Amino acid sequence: MMKVLQVSAEIFPLLKTGGLADIAGALPQALNAAGADVRVVLPGFAAILADLETPSVLAQTLAPWGELVRVCQGRLRTLGVQAYVIDVPHFYQRNGTPYENLQRQPHGDNHRRFALLGWVAAQLAYGLDAHWQPNVVHSHDWHAGLTSAYMAFMPHSGARVASVFTVHNLAYQGVFAPSYFFDLGLPHGAFSLNGLEFHGQVSFMKSGLYYADHITTVSPTYAREIQTHEQGCGLDGLLRERASALSGILNAVDEAVWNPATDPAIASVYSADKPAGKARCKTALQQELGLAVRADTPLFGVVSRLTEQKGLHLVLASLDAILRRGGQLVVLGTGDAALEVAFQGRAAAYPMQMSVRIGYDEAFAHRIFAATDITLVPSRFEPCGLTQMYGLKYGSLPLVHRVGGLADTVVDCSLEDLAEGRANGFVFNHFEAHALERAICRAFALFARAAEWRQVRGAAMRQKLGWENAATQYMALFQRLCA
Ligand code: ADP
Ligand code: GLC
Repeated sequence: MMKVLQVSAEIFPLLKTGGLADIAGALPQALNAAGADVRVVLPGFAAILADLETPSVLAQTLAPWGELVRVCQGRLRTLGVQAYVIDVPHFYQRNGTPYENLQRQPHGDNHRRFALLGWVAAQLAYGLDAHWQPNVVHSHDWHAGLTSAYMAFMPHSGARVASVFTVHNLAYQGVFAPSYFFDLGLPHGAFSLNGLEFHGQVSFMKSGLYYADHITTVSPTYAREIQTHEQGCGLDGLLRERASALSGILNAVDEAVWNPATDPAIASVYSADKPAGKARCKTALQQELGLAVRADTPLFGVVSRLTEQKGLHLVLASLDAILRRGGQLVVLGTGDAALEVAFQGRAAAYPMQMSVRIGYDEAFAHRIFAATDITLVPSRFEPCGLTQMYGLKYGSLPLVHRVGGLADTVVDCSLEDLAEGRANGFVFNHFEAHALERAICRAFALFARAAEWRQVRGAAMRQKLGWENAATQYMALFQRLCA
C-alpha cells in the first residue's frame, strides 16, 4: 500500500486562511479512497491539538537550533485521519492568523516556526515513527518548503523516500534574511544558487522547487504560466530547468462539504434536477441582507481574500455596469484595508442593491454561493481557484479572468459553446475593467433568456468536479516516483 505523509500548515475544517486548507483537508480522504494510506503532519495550532483524539507523545526531537520539541500523534476526530502534530505552544499558540500577528505583520520567528514543520516531516520520512514510514512525502506551499531540503541532506539507511512539492501560490515565497540560514541546520552548500538562496536571501519556496523530486501545481495552465517571466515571480528560470519534473493536477471540490443537495448551511437544498430551492436561497439572502427582494434581477457574489491577486479593484471600477442595470452584489471578504473601505463605501450608497460584509464566515460563504446567480472571480492570477468551482456546483455561474485554474474550469457562453452544451460561465481575456464590464453585460444578456440560463446552470451543476480524477493523477505520480 502506498504510504503518503502530507505536510501542510493549514487543514480544513480546523484551520483555514484560504484554498490551501480546503485541499489539505480533502486530499487525505481522496487518496485513501484511491488506495493510499495517508497521514498528515501539522504545526500544533490550538484548533489542531484540540481535535487530536487520544494523543500520545511519539518523540522528543532536537530542532536544528538546539531546542527540544515534542511530536504528538493521534487521530484527528473531525477528519478521521492519523496525524503527527508538532506540540510547541510558544510557536503556534498565538493570536492572529497562522502567519501574522494582530497587526497583520508576519511573526518575527516564522523561519523557525515553519522550518520545524519541514524538519519533523523529514524525520518522519526517515524513521521517527518506528511503526510507520511513508513512501512519499507530499508537502504544500512555502510553509512546508524546507521538507525536501531536509530530506535531501538527512543521513539515512534503507530505501529513499520520494518527495513531492505542490505550489498553491508562487507569490507567497517565505523569504528571510540570510542570517537566518544558520538557524536551519542545513549544510553551507545549500545556501547557493544551486539550493535555496534567492537573491542573497533564504527562500523556503525555492527550497521546495529545487530539492523536491517532483513539483506539482494546482492546475495545468498555472504549471505553464509560472515558467514565464510574467508569472514566474523570479523563479521561472528554475522552473523551466525543472520542467520535466513539473506538472499540473487540477484541484477538485470536496463534495461532502460543498453540495447544495445536502448543505446544512443553506436556506433550502436543491440540485440540478430539482433546482427550485435555489430561488428560495436567493430570496432568503436578499431578506437577510436588506436587499430588494427580486427574483428577476441577477445577484452577483464575491467570496474572497481581499488582496491584489484577486483583481477586485476591477469590480470596484465596473460596479456601475451591475448597479445601472438593476443588478445586485454581495461581497464577503477580508484583507487589504483600502479594498475593505472602498467596498463598504459603495455598499453604503446602494443599500438595496449592494451588501458588503468584512470578515471570515464559512457558513455565510455557503449561503452566498447558494443564493447568487453569478460568482465573480476576476483574479489577476489564480493558481487554481476554488470559488469558481463552488459557484459551478451551486449553480452560481462563474465570471472569471482567463488565467490559471480559472481558464481550466470555466467555458464562456459564446454561441458555439452554448450550442455544444459546453458553456458554464463567463470569461474575459484582458485584465481591465472594460473587459470585465463586457462579461457582465453577457451575464445580463443570458440572464434575460431564462430558458437558456437554466440550461447553462444545469450544465454547470452537473459538471464532474469531485476528487476521483485528481486522486488518480496523484497516485499515478506517486507510483512512478516510487518505482
Ligand atoms: P485562495 O486560496 O487564493 O484564497 P481559493 O479560491 O482557492 O483562493 O480558496 C478560497 C477559499 O477560502 C474558499 O474556500 C472560499 O470560500 C474561502 N474564503 C475566502 N474568503 C472567505 C471569507 N471571507 N469567508 C469565508 N470563506 C472565505
Ligand atoms: C492558493 C491559490 C488558489 C488555489 C488554492 C488551493 O491559495 O491562490 O488559486 O485554489 O491555493 O490550491
